Amino acid sequence: MKVIAFNGSARKDGNTAILLNTVLEEIKKEGIETELYQLAGKKIQGCIACYKCMKNKDKRCAVTKDIVNECIEKMIEADGILLGSPTYFADVSAGTRALIERTGYVARANDYLFKRKVGAGVIAVRRGGAIHAFNSLNLFFFYQQIINPGSSYWAFAIGRDPGEVLNDAEGIQTMKTLGENLAWLLKKVRR
Ligand SMILES: Cc1cc2nc3c(=O)[nH]c(=O)nc-3n(C[C@H](O)[C@H](O)[C@H](O)COP(=O)(O)O)c2cc1C
Repeated sequence: MKVIAFNGSARKDGNTAILLNTVLEEIKKEGIETELYQLAGKKIQGCIACYKCMKNKDKRCAVTKDIVNECIEKMIEADGILLGSPTYFADVSAGTRALIERTGYVARANDYLFKRKVGAGVIAVRRGGAIHAFNSLNLFFFYQQIINPGSSYWAFAIGRDPGEVLNDAEGIQTMKTLGENLAWLLKKVRR
């Protein structure tokens, strides 16, 4: 079994990466393979509404000059999908949005490619907008029929500079509980 985590931050190895790794650590403890894939520095653009995925139905995006098809392959291969984003203007980052638009439409065009996988979202935030950003991630999971386990609180943690989220004890605990719940659920539904 495998869980793939996407870090949609424009900043590599920042707070979102720390939160995702905190979730992944718990999943690893349960003997499940994990991978962190960071979008920072990589090329990704939003959906161009060509609708070719609806016609081709080949599990690929027709826009081939960026990382999206690689991401789709990683999602298909995985049993669990984590999406992590910093809060940018009270929503997810542009990179995360692009990942949602492109993978989401290809998945839908191919009879819901990620149906009944397990997934969850995590958010890094300095001060405001985390719940809105968190909801944006969850709308993806619900649309895609991805099963979300929840945690002891909504999965966000507070920090601005890289590493500051580690000072948010409740936020970090929420990530650990999310990891435990994700591993538990994976073992129930993806045997
Ligand atoms: C373009 C931009 C917009 C931001 N907008 C918000 C915001 O709306 N609310 C907030 O609390 N923090 C905002 N922040 C701060 C980041 O969410 C915060 O620093 C977060 O920890 C960054 O995560 P990272 O280290 O993974 O990049 C913004 C940062 C940037 C670069």
